[in-house]
Amino acid sequence: MIYVSPSILSANLVNLQKDLALLSKAKADYIHIDCMDGHFVDNIAFGPSFVKQIKAISSLPLDVHLMLDEPLKYVDEFILSGSDILTIHQEVVSLNEFMSYHEKLKSHRVLVGLSLRPNTPLENIYPYLPYCDVVLVMSVMPGFSGQKFYESTYQRIEMLNQYRKENHLSYLLEVDGGVDETNMDELKNKGVDIFVSGSYLFKGDMKRKIERMKHV
Ligand code: DX5
Ligand code: ZN
Repeated sequence: MIYVSPSILSANLVNLQKDLALLSKAKADYIHIDCMDGHFVDNIAFGPSFVKQIKAISSLPLDVHLMLDEPLKYVDEFILSGSDILTIHQEVVSLNEFMSYHEKLKSHRVLVGLSLRPNTPLENIYPYLPYCDVVLVMSVMPGFSGQKFYESTYQRIEMLNQYRKENHLSYLLEVDGGVDETNMDELKNKGVDIFVSGSYLFKGDMKRKIERMKHV
């Protein structure tokens, strides 16, 4: 089963209601919301009040990606805002911090996500994996939509898929950045469960593209 999580960083933000309706009609599985603090990445986007407003007008589950230097400061707010998957970056949390994050999310029935930049060694995240529901593999440097996909992602996904099998873990593998029809088949073969896509999906026929993504 493949799930599609369109990133609304590429949506028309001054007419967002229209694009949200389009996502429901096109049978997206989630709405991917990128939150950026201008420190962890060189861009600024979307806070908890924005997430809350999306929650109020869409019935799709919210897949919230925190690209923040201090995500733990804001976790409560993002839970209260209605995040269904909440993802933070391994580069900024110790394993101990992640365990308490995990506990908090579990008690609110929010899925626990962990992400990593394309140049972060996979070994760094292995100790965290038993506590993850979702592992979000960045396939571009986080910060902006419309960047070129890193080919090294295939091998990283393959290794995380293998690690999942060998260790009897059940996290979903999500890929984010530069995903389009030139790479989605191979990504699926390597073990991806959730495709995030921004600039590709919001250009052209969204419904057809999502259908194609789900049936690669
Ligand atoms: C990048 C974000 C992505 C981005 C994806 O930092 O995490 O979610 O919006 O956009 P595309 O699919 O255009 O690379
Ligand atoms: Zn993202």
